[in-house]
Amino acid sequence: MIIPARGARPERTAVLAVVAALAVPLVVAPIVAAPPAAADAPLRVHAAARGKFIGYAAGTSPLANEAAYRSVAASEFNQVTAENAMKWESTEPSDGNYTFSGADQVVAFATANNQQVHGHTLVWHSQTPGWVQGLSASAMRTAMQDHIATVVGRYANNASLVSWDVVNEVFEENGNLRSSFWYNTLGSSYIADAFRYARAADSNARLCINDYNVEGINAKSTAMYNLVRQLRADGVPVDCVGFQGHLAIQYGFPSQFRENLDRFAALGVQVRITELDIRMQMPRDSTKDATQATYYRNVVQGCLAVTACAGVTIWGFTDKYSWVPDVFSGEGAALPWDANYSTKPAYTAIHDALDDGSGPAPDTTPPTTPGTPAASGVTSSGLSLSWTASSDAVGVAGYDVLRATGASGGSFAVVGTPSSASFVDSGLAASTTYRYQVRARDAAGNVSSLSSVASVTTTAGGGGPGPSSCRVAYTISPWGGSPGFTAGLVLTNTGTSSLSGWTLAFSLPSGQAITPPGWSATWSQSGQAVTATPLSWNSTLAPGGSTTIGFNGTHTGGTSEPTTFTVGGSSCTVV
Ligand code: G3I
Repeated sequence: MIIPARGARPERTAVLAVVAALAVPLVVAPIVAAPPAAADAPLRVHAAARGKFIGYAAGTSPLANEAAYRSVAASEFNQVTAENAMKWESTEPSDGNYTFSGADQVVAFATANNQQVHGHTLVWHSQTPGWVQGLSASAMRTAMQDHIATVVGRYANNASLVSWDVVNEVFEENGNLRSSFWYNTLGSSYIADAFRYARAADSNARLCINDYNVEGINAKSTAMYNLVRQLRADGVPVDCVGFQGHLAIQYGFPSQFRENLDRFAALGVQVRITELDIRMQMPRDSTKDATQATYYRNVVQGCLAVTACAGVTIWGFTDKYSWVPDVFSGEGAALPWDANYSTKPAYTAIHDALDDGSGPAPDTTPPTTPGTPAASGVTSSGLSLSWTASSDAVGVAGYDVLRATGASGGSFAVVGTPSSASFVDSGLAASTTYRYQVRARDAAGNVSSLSSVASVTTTAGGGGPGPSSCRVAYTISPWGGSPGFTAGLVLTNTGTSSLSGWTLAFSLPSGQAITPPGWSATWSQSGQAVTATPLSWNSTLAPGGSTTIGFNGTHTGGTSEPTTFTVGGSSCTVV
């Protein structure tokens, strides 16, 4: 992929050293970190020491009226986003009549407390007045240009306001562009236009696209990735990508969060977590609090691990003022402070994750090596494995089960990630030898050595469920102007029994190669032979069930498609 060269932009004078560093276009010199923080220092001190921001979404009413709110806001955070005060309905409620009282209030508080401000949001389908929504195409484009010029222009010379959400939530969950009044009236061009209008109004501010349910690798985040890549290839000034982070403990932590940040960062954009909150089904209890704390820690650690990640903004900070209970019936307690401004385990988790080392030492010790897997219940298409569990100083989080086909040769790929020391493999070919190894992981990401190898041969066919039946739809999308492509595959189980721990294999045409990591599967390539093994969430396909996986690749001129796909050695129908 070719990204147009971007000239360095003059930077505004920033209120914080870290702010100044963050304003430099990315792929940049490392951020100059502040001095190490004392262990009990507030979040903002630890964040600055790591070269990141830690922020909150501000409500104008408590900011004006509550000393306790102001105290936490000022002492704990070095970044702020107005929760509602910069939205269109707040700043231009009727055509051409601008009101900035709430927006100015947030900016003034931020300036007084050395906090950088992120402007939220210019073009959104929600909280935009009815008068905009009913305009003709030409009038709507003019209104958008005027709104962006006026709102962004107001703060263009303000040292605190460093970035804007230019467009917000432009995708449907399936990755299509959202059928909003913007899209339905103006078509997809409104997105590029909005960015260009914003750049014209402030040549220094970072310009972001922001969305929810894009934290992991999925159809929506992949659509956002492709849009950002295309916009930048077209010279549209997209500088940054915001991952909102409205999570819930009952839905699990987003799959491949870190890998997702990494792939966007590789496009040359800044990434940031913009609206983090982690809700739960009420009532709260200590188990839910602990899970929530782990999720907060995971998010902060993910951002710390990615150089291009500027920081994390929490959507509010106290449960006293959270949008969650109003929208999700029976859910709440999503923030690190409770309604009485007492901190929760989530606060400690964020604090410890940001700590520069003066707090508890990080866990760098891997679990012990697990025992050699032993097979039982071997049939023509499946078997059970169990092994002696690993131990770990903190705790074993789970295992990776790796499988290679054949008595020798071939490469091992992960086919399962059980949380305890056993695994059921299925979808295997009859009379075939498979080799298995396992390794253990802990919560800090330390991985043990691989166990010894166990070889198992499935029985001859006839008694068991038989080889898997599958269908593959393969779509290749060449990139204009560069020797790359995106390949999307839909794998469907057309059999009558569940397909678990599947391995999809095919041969890439000559001259084509995968650019790791791909998404929604673990991909590997040896010569032209490619295998994809599932992640935990798509490792079992019920009869009729399907999963969408994919990868980016390079080619040397040809973008023909593979012709044969197998699962567990059996050919799939190709459509
Ligand atoms: O200001 C009026 C007030 O006059 C009226 O009495 C009251 C009655 O309900 O409503 C007030 O407006 C509310 C507004 O927040 C300001 O408090 C709206 O009803 C309420 O719907 C609105 O909710 C906001 C929501 O965006 C709107 O979609 C939430 O506070 C805000 O946290 C939320 O934030 C969004 C991000 O902007 C984008 N990403 C998702 C995130 C969560 O939904």
